[in-house]
This record gives sequence, C-alpha cells and structure tokens, in this order.
Amino acid sequence: MTKNSNDYQALRETYVARGVGNGNLHVADYAKGATITDIEGNDFIDFAGAIGTLNVGHSHPEITAHLKNQLDKFIHPGFNVIMYESYLKLAEKLAHITPGDFAKKTVLLNSGAEAVENAVKIARKYTGRQSVVSFVRGFHGRTNLTMSMTSKVRPYKLGFGPFAPEVYQAPYPNVAEKADNVSQEDFEAQAIARLEDFFIETVDPEEVACVVMEPVQGEGGFIIPPKSFVQAVKKICEAHGIIFVADEIQTGFARTGKLFAIEHFDVEPDLMTVSKSLAAGFPLSGVVGKAEIVDSANPGEIGGTYAGNPLACEAALKVIEIIEQEQLNEKAETIGQAIEDKLNALSATHNFIQHTRRLGAMVAFEVIDPQTGKPDKALTANIVKVANEQGLLLLSAGIKGNVIRFLTPLVITDEELTRGFDILTAALNEVTSTQQV
Ligand SMILES: Cc1ncc(COP(=O)(O)O)c(C=O)c1O
Repeated sequence: MTKNSNDYQALRETYVARGVGNGNLHVADYAKGATITDIEGNDFIDFAGAIGTLNVGHSHPEITAHLKNQLDKFIHPGFNVIMYESYLKLAEKLAHITPGDFAKKTVLLNSGAEAVENAVKIARKYTGRQSVVSFVRGFHGRTNLTMSMTSKVRPYKLGFGPFAPEVYQAPYPNVAEKADNVSQEDFEAQAIARLEDFFIETVDPEEVACVVMEPVQGEGGFIIPPKSFVQAVKKICEAHGIIFVADEIQTGFARTGKLFAIEHFDVEPDLMTVSKSLAAGFPLSGVVGKAEIVDSANPGEIGGTYAGNPLACEAALKVIEIIEQEQLNEKAETIGQAIEDKLNALSATHNFIQHTRRLGAMVAFEVIDPQTGKPDKALTANIVKVANEQGLLLLSAGIKGNVIRFLTPLVITDEELTRGFDILTAALNEVTSTQQV
C-alpha cells in the first residue's frame, strides 16, 4: 500500500528529537527548480530554499549530472589523508571571487556554525587576543561559541548556558525603528556614536580579536544596515588591529544581487564565512580570507574529518559557474523587485504588512498589529502555518518572530512566483477572516 505523509508522523513523533523543528508536515518525494512534490503528489512552491541554500534551485540538471559522474570516481578520500582536485580548485576560485585584491587562502568545513567557529579560532591565533564581538539580533549557529554570539534567547539559548566567555554583542541599527522626526543622516550618526560607545563601555577594542558581522542580518529579520555603519565598523577594526569577519552564510552567492552582500557596502573583509548556497544543498562551508591571517593556524589545528567533501566541492564549483551562466545576480534583482511589488500591492488590503525591505532577492516584511503598532508574532506564525498547509513553503524570522522572509531559489519561474503569491494571498485572507470572527 502506498504511504502518505500522515503515515510518517508516528515515526517522526516516536524517533526524531522533539527539539528539531519542522515547518511543514508533508514528506518530500522529489524537487525541481522552486517546486517540491510530496509523496502524495502535492506540489509545494518553495519560498524557503532550504533556508537559503538553494539559490541555483533544487536538482539543477548540470549539478545532478556532474555529481553522478563524480560518485563513480570516489566519495571521500579525506583531504587530510590524500588531496583531490575539487578542494584545490574551489579554494582557488573562492580566492578570486571574494572581494579584496590580496592573496587569500581557504579552509573548507561542513556547516555554517563550524565556519564561524573557525573564523574566530583563526582570528584569535593571528591577533593573540581573546574577545569576540558579534551584533545584537545576529545569528551565527547552534554550537556553544556560535550560540553565544547569537542574540535571540528563545529558542536558541534558553536553558543552554553556560555560554562562551569573551563574547560581546554590539548594537546594529534597524531603520524600521527610526522615529519619523529623526532624519536618516541623524539616525546613522547616532548608530555610529552608539557603536563607538560600545567600545568604551563594554570591551576595549585593543582586546578584540574579531568583529563578526552579517552584512544583512538573516535570522534577525533581514535587517539591512546603513552603508555608513558597516564602513564605520570596518574603520574601527582597522584602527585597532581587529579582524573584520563578514558572515555571508545566508547572504552570499547572488542572493542580494551581488555575489556577496558586503560588496554593496564597499568594504573588503579580512575573513569571510561562506556556506548554504555555496554547494546547492550539500553540507559545505568555508573561511576565506587574507592568506597571512588564515595561515596563522598551524597544520592540523583547523579542518575536520568530512570537511571539504569532494561531492560538495564539485557541486560548489558548478554553482559558481551557474551563477555566472544564468546571470543569477541580475535575476536576484528582478525577482526581488517582483516580490516587493506584490507585497506593496498586498499591503494596501492587508494593513498588518509593514516595513517591507529588500536587498536583491533578500526580501522581508513585518507583521505589525495596526491597532497597537506592535509586532504580531502569533499572526505571523498563523500565516506561515496556513501557507505551509496550502502548498507554499514559507519561513518566518526576526528577533520578535514577526518577520516573513523570502528565500526563493533564484531560478524561480514567473509561474511559480505567481502561484506562490496566490497561495500567500489566500493564507493572508484566511488568517484575517479568522481573526475577525
Ligand atoms: C548568517 C548565518 N551564520 C551562521 C549560520 C549557521 O549555519 P548552520 O546552520 O549551517 O550551522 C546561519 C544559519 O542560518 C546563518 O544564517
């Protein structure tokens, strides 16, 4: 007898850790582009892209064909045991495509958190300093150090202490919080002044090994900082010998209309962490940056058993080719604009849609109770739940859980986008009518 998604719920309940979240309770069968089909034949339009890992889309034919060939050669010789070409070529490629006209080196790893951990290890070794600065509302992972660098208490931190020492969180401006009577110029000047105060009140810059900054905050709610602020952070780093680490794990590989989001701010990071869309769904991450800094770690001090798996490296090399061939930077801008236009139209009839913002195809809006002006986490959760039930994979975000974010594959077709928005509109209508009853 063929099974349906419900048949698997008992397995999920009985054998999978409760702490693992599931946004959608269906079971995937196959996926292509921006559509996932479940085992009952239901289609889901994918506005989540496996949390931003699928800029080139599901099962890109070139990647699938290439990896089938690779599988016949070998699976994992282990780079520490014997080298293989794809790791070397990928390190070379990353050195060339990341910003900064200086010699660069790369260490490849598995997950985003692991990349951030290693960036901190490298920065500490290079500077001989211990302190790490991240930002309020930031997200860097679920290991002890990266959880300590992360801001959102529930669900990421509550009950999981003690946290790593010498981690400090600096303020990161959110333009949605700018009062109407404050000019943009004053808002930016105040944000920089607060940052300077942070280095007087909280930690001395001469003790800081690195500042780890998301050029656009991802889990924090797609917060796009002013260019002047990012440049001020870099300037402080330069003045005090602090390593500037751009965490591009969610923002990288064409998501924002440039290969890396930090390029929008005309800042060249010393180190960059990459993962997610780097390898089209394979677990792969890396720290790329100034050769002199990366080389402060001695042989054997960084890396890992599965780090830089050859299938993942081959996928990454193809991803970089596809981004160029299919002009995904340009597509990100077109898709982002189309999403923004649709959201602006929807906000005319659904007044809880506020603060729509985007950089390329990194688009989000906030759900605000129009009566109180406060973030509406419950309504956000309801919209996401109904959308997921009705055939749209949709994610929330934000420190207050009231942001809906769009991380669609950049190969999404007009038809998929329209279908996705039809489902979203139906979900918005349904939650609004339930609320009014
Ligand atoms: C900016 C950023 N850094 C780090 C991470 C952690 O990555 P991973 O979940 O692969 O450990 C994420 C994941 O969402 C992220 O968005």
